[in-house]
Amino acid sequence: KVNSEVQTDIVTLTRYLTESEHALGTTATGDFTYYIRRATLINLVGLAGSENKTGDEQKKLDVIGNEIFVNSMRSSGKVKVLVSEEEENALVFGGSGKYAVVCDPIDGSSNLDAGVSVGTIFGIFKLDDNAAGTADDVLLPGTELVAAGFTMYGASANLVLTMRGGNVNGFTLDNALGEFILTHPNMRMPKTRSIYSVNEGNSLYWDSACREYFDSIKYPTEANGKPYSARYIGSMVADAYRTLCYGGMFAYPADKKSPKGKLRILYECAPMAMVMEQAGGQAVDSNMKRMLEVVPTHIHDRSGIFMGSYDEIEKVKSVFAKHQ
Ligand code: AHG
Ligand code: MN
Ligand code: MN
Ligand code: MN
Repeated sequence: KVNSEVQTDIVTLTRYLTESEHALGTTATGDFTYYIRRATLINLVGLAGSENKTGDEQKKLDVIGNEIFVNSMRSSGKVKVLVSEEEENALVFGGSGKYAVVCDPIDGSSNLDAGVSVGTIFGIFKLDDNAAGTADDVLLPGTELVAAGFTMYGASANLVLTMRGGNVNGFTLDNALGEFILTHPNMRMPKTRSIYSVNEGNSLYWDSACREYFDSIKYPTEANGKPYSARYIGSMVADAYRTLCYGGMFAYPADKKSPKGKLRILYECAPMAMVMEQAGGQAVDSNMKRMLEVVPTHIHDRSGIFMGSYDEIEKVKSVFAKHQ
């Protein structure tokens, strides 16, 4: 008797990319697929080395992860410009690469010693044919991203991937197969969920709008209002992954100590904002401007960010509107 629970039509990342590339039509060249395959592989290699590292080498892992990522992008021949958190300047590769890649090689690295989930955040822009191949090529709003996503190494290794105009798909690494399997097709974030995620240790520095919003969810005034649960890992990939799965909101607001926020626009905020939006949520900066429309003036520019469930971000906006 065949067990109907047994999955016999398994969608691997390779199959998914092959099929979705067909959906892109005749303009697909295979470059895209190639890049993502390489990137995924590299993330794994980078993380595998982390297991036996000590605190002193934590920074080393950032460096190693970065070097592996850079080498992979360079050798692919598909990438012209690469921006990494760990590289002061944009790297420009010779050759005929048509893509610009932005990445945070290891997000959450300060948590590595504690065994907390970390991951890699990435975004991909397709360059104009006449692009000069300079850092300026990537000073673009997130709306120009053709793909974005992140990996997260937790109890399992997860890859979240979205392409422009598409939905959000979650893959889980099958260690035995060495392949990512599509385990979370078309991830949709719940419209609302009473969870908030923010470094509350910064609340002394928050502005009045920010205080009012967080007070409103912690000390609800409506008769039936229940206070929200707090969940803050301090690893954006992990906080974002939970938010994607369960709903709720994650914020790293601009404040008096960090007037421009902490998280970087190009390789932290914009890719996450694309994922959030395409999963049915929202992401805005501390001025309540749509995160994907924020244009950095420098590759490492920072921004405040509020992201998560659609209705929750509406609530954030309505509180902030009172303080304009
Ligand atoms: P990174 O490890 O790439 O430097 O990023 C750390 C970021 C992000 O992962 C997290 O959301 C945030 O820093 C946490 O900051 P605090 O420790 O200030 O809360
Ligand atoms: Mn980071
Ligand atoms: Mn990092
Ligand atoms: Mn860092």
